[in-house]
Amino acid sequence: MEIIRSLQEMQLKSLELIRQNKQIGFVATMGFFHEGHTNLMKRAKQENDIVVTSIFVNPLQFGPSEDFEQYPRDEQQDTTVAEQVGVDYLFLPEIQDMYPTPLIISMNIEDRADVLCGRSRPGHFEGVITVLSKLFHIIQPSKTYFGMKDAQQVAVVDALIKDLNFPIELIPVSTTREKDGLAKSSRNVYLTNKERQEAPQLYGALNKGRKLVVDGETNTDIIVKEVMDVINNHTSGRIDYVELLSYPQLEPVSVVNRPVVLAVAVHFNRARLIDNLLFDEY
Ligand code: PAJ
Repeated sequence: MEIIRSLQEMQLKSLELIRQNKQIGFVATMGFFHEGHTNLMKRAKQENDIVVTSIFVNPLQFGPSEDFEQYPRDEQQDTTVAEQVGVDYLFLPEIQDMYPTPLIISMNIEDRADVLCGRSRPGHFEGVITVLSKLFHIIQPSKTYFGMKDAQQVAVVDALIKDLNFPIELIPVSTTREKDGLAKSSRNVYLTNKERQEAPQLYGALNKGRKLVVDGETNTDIIVKEVMDVINNHTSGRIDYVELLSYPQLEPVSVVNRPVVLAVAVHFNRARLIDNLLFDEY
């Protein structure tokens, strides 16, 4: 595995690979790898000649009161893991190279970003699509892999690729979970022991929602309330949102009769956890 820090070197390397008719699979990350990340890399490995993974904790997508400084980082461990998984190029750009001067062009999202995490994290998804546009131009992949753990991110990246005609195929990958159902996340390390025991209830609550839908419940309000009850009754967390929206449009639905995503976000003391389930067949 080769480590590349320079933007220009990465772009030249990609151009050279493309000239050799190599298909590049790309996994964008902020590092501190867990199995959710490595599963994206493994999938990319299966479907491409070359896998490029980037690690960049993107300041643009963190709000002023969010955890940019505290975001967990471990470059050495990540390098070892990426190498083991078979990543070919690990791209580690520096902040001053990605954002050498204040940006003159700013990206604005008209839809899909004012619900769920977008509502409580204004500017977050604009920051995500800005950095991804830069990374897509530098790496020029054929395929890019994103986790459904961040379903809204997948919906927004889908719009980015289609609206701006990036010649890239977006491959959504299902959520990797701990044995007890908790979705793997770099932020799980911030849970206290007690919170860690409670946290699988988020998945429990989502499954309660799924059962209601499978059993024929179509009223969104009833499903959302039942999901909230499970979280409130079984965790010490504070609900940020529980929402049931069409997918990938992310519009409100009063009756469940098409692909929908049931998504939750819960604040614990030092970590805000998110999870979701997609119901596309029922
Ligand atoms: P990060 O949180 O590091 O996640 C990188 C990728 O891993 C994302 O596509 C995310 O959805 C996926 N992922 C994280 N946990 C997962 C899990 N338990 N199961 C499956 N996939 C999982 O998302 C970001 O970084 C950033 O916003 C980024 C796209 C890199 C832009 O800065």
